[in-house]
Amino acid sequence: MKELHVSNHPLIRHKLALMRSAGTEPKKFREVVREITTLLLYEATEDLETVEIEVQTPLAVTTGRKLMPRIGFVPILRAGVGMVDAALDLIPTAQVWHIGLYRDHRTLLPVEYYNKLPVEPTVDICLVLDPMLATAGSATATVKVLKDWGARRIKYVGLIAAPEGVERFHAEHPDVPIHIAEVDSHLNELGYIVPGLGDAGDRQFGTN
Ligand code: PRP
Ligand code: URA
Repeated sequence: MKELHVSNHPLIRHKLALMRSAGTEPKKFREVVREITTLLLYEATEDLETVEIEVQTPLAVTTGRKLMPRIGFVPILRAGVGMVDAALDLIPTAQVWHIGLYRDHRTLLPVEYYNKLPVEPTVDICLVLDPMLATAGSATATVKVLKDWGARRIKYVGLIAAPEGVERFHAEHPDVPIHIAEVDSHLNELGYIVPGLGDAGDRQFGTN
């Protein structure tokens, strides 16, 4: 299947340039992360099932639709946290299951440090949230955790990807669609996406 959705929406393109700029301070950066997340999730959720329901308006009875699947947002700590508020604003009934992973700076391998998933899956679809798909080590490890948990339907929603990350993610999880604002040029020797935006966690939380 190998689905790669790169949004061509002008609002996303405009906000992406703001986010990339080294002069954008953390407050503005966080704001733009939230705005792009809203737009990307709007696109990523377009195939969610709805069921017909009866609605009483002040004037008459009519029909409406109700979202069917139980949704789980899975932000990867830390940087994915900045995408959660926007996600919950769109789907307030969703569950949020944090996965703690950081990338070892020497090996670039993901190290898991937080996972409180219950024994059985409690959602019908997981939307993994993490701004950066670089080597894809963090995202592929998270999707494996979710599949081992029993999740059947998973999507990845991020902001910027490297071609190397997309290729690896598709190779390991061909069944998981990628929704992203942009696929950049390449990874540098330190594993950073070029041109990218730098360290997404540091830029959101002012820690560099
Ligand atoms: C960043 C980013 C991803 C990961 C991507 O997190 O938020 O999780 O790197 O890189 P990868 O595709 O090569 O795994 P980082 O490890 O810097 O942790 P942080 O969010 O805590 O800063
Ligand atoms: N993680 C980031 O935050 N930025 C990159 O460019 C690569 C990994």
